Amino acid sequence: MNFSLLGLFVFVNQCVSYKILAVFPYNGRSHHNLFSTLVEELALRDHSVTVVNYFPMKNISKLRQIPLEYKVSGSDVVDIDDTLKNLPGILVNFHKALDTARAFKNLANSNCDKLMSNKEIQEIISSKTKFDLVIVEQFVTDCGLAVAFKLNAPIVGITAHILMPWTYSRLGALNHPAYVPNHFIGSGTKPGFWDKIQSALINIAFNIYFKYVIQKSDQMIINSVFEDVPDLDEIGKNISLILLNQYFPLTGSRLYGANVIEVGGLHIKENTTIDDEEIKSFIDKAESDVIYISFGTVASNFPDRIIKEIINFITKSSVKVLWKIDNVGNLNLPKNVLIRKWFPQTAVLCHPKVKAFITHSGMLSSIEAMHCGVPVISVPLFGDQFANAAAATEIGLGVTIDVSTMNERKINQALKTVMQDS
Ligand SMILES: *[C@@H]1O[C@H](CO)[C@@H](O)[C@H](O)[C@H]1NC(C)=O
Ligand SMILES: *[C@@H]1O[C@H](CO)[C@@H](O)[C@H](O)[C@H]1NC(C)=O
Ligand SMILES: *[C@@H]1O[C@H](CO)[C@@H](O)[C@H](O)[C@H]1NC(C)=O
Repeated sequence: MNFSLLGLFVFVNQCVSYKILAVFPYNGRSHHNLFSTLVEELALRDHSVTVVNYFPMKNISKLRQIPLEYKVSGSDVVDIDDTLKNLPGILVNFHKALDTARAFKNLANSNCDKLMSNKEIQEIISSKTKFDLVIVEQFVTDCGLAVAFKLNAPIVGITAHILMPWTYSRLGALNHPAYVPNHFIGSGTKPGFWDKIQSALINIAFNIYFKYVIQKSDQMIINSVFEDVPDLDEIGKNISLILLNQYFPLTGSRLYGANVIEVGGLHIKENTTIDDEEIKSFIDKAESDVIYISFGTVASNFPDRIIKEIINFITKSSVKVLWKIDNVGNLNLPKNVLIRKWFPQTAVLCHPKVKAFITHSGMLSSIEAMHCGVPVISVPLFGDQFANAAAATEIGLGVTIDVSTMNERKINQALKTVMQDS
């Protein structure tokens, strides 16, 4: 290679800095944790990144942040007490799906409204700012696609979970109920006959509801601001590729084209340490095993019955427990538990004394447990958590407990199982 060619490579190498817009219209903290890792890294690697989201990020010179207004409202959390009131029996999955669909519509519309009415976004669009790439979350609202359309830029999708039922078709990917785990039910990769029927019906119903209710109402919100934005589904088909927060050894492999790239584990920072002294010494000084309990950032209003069962379990157990929960009301806590509203979760899970994780089986938590080699006791509550829990149980990462019948004895038994097998 002669020197001028070498010089050209060095030059090109230094100049490849793209202008990227990242649009995250959903106000969920766990999704943000994944996306912010990507955005931060892109900015640190010298790309000019503009991010539209609900949570402030680090100040980085190449990163412009456009904050969406955030006010915690009832629709941002899932009321577990309420979801447990669903009729039990064979129709339970359909009830859950129906509840979820309604919640998704409210969420999609309010997220879309906040995005489309944002003055900075409107300014970017009206000034025809040029972007090399627009990254858009693929969850319940497609309004981010409208922004990409107006900017006439290539689109990369990203998810914080397994694909939503309506995302498969726009990627040309198969969502066959005979072997593709359903997002909303815990039948895993080896569903029985009834599971397959339920899965097929739920997928059909969700796809219809998404197209004719959720997307249609979002389309109206968009068209009231930008008349010329075409059918969102058509824009969706133009997505060049999608970054999928999934890792096939955990979730089972699926049939995808080259436009679907699994990035499960992307958010995990290596060698994180526990900075909080109280948490650190609680674990370090433990003379027994430590277990960690967290039901994630979205679940709220656990029935007192379940909280009491967990406290009874902790009281009689010889393990020490870290429990992420806002408060336990006026119940008395035993000495072997430390509660916090927030824990540095990956660092806690990767601590050698932490031997089990009682979890709602959100995708980020499931991947962190796998990364740290900690067995899980899954207590799925809503959304994709049933599918994630089934996957974790199938591959031997842990066991699953049904939240509606969860009690002290079952937790104890599950803990024995995962401790003995690990
Ligand atoms: C980032 O910079 C802005 C403006 O200088 C400042 O108001 C804000 O507090 C900073 N945020 C952080 C997280 O440092
Ligand atoms: C999809 O992409 C093609 C090729 O870039 C473009 O001609 C078409 O207008 C796009 N369609 C939509 C709906 O964005
Ligand atoms: C993390 O720690 C391991 C073992 O000490 C080391 O090999 C690795 O390079 C570290 N990774 C980072 C990103 O610092």
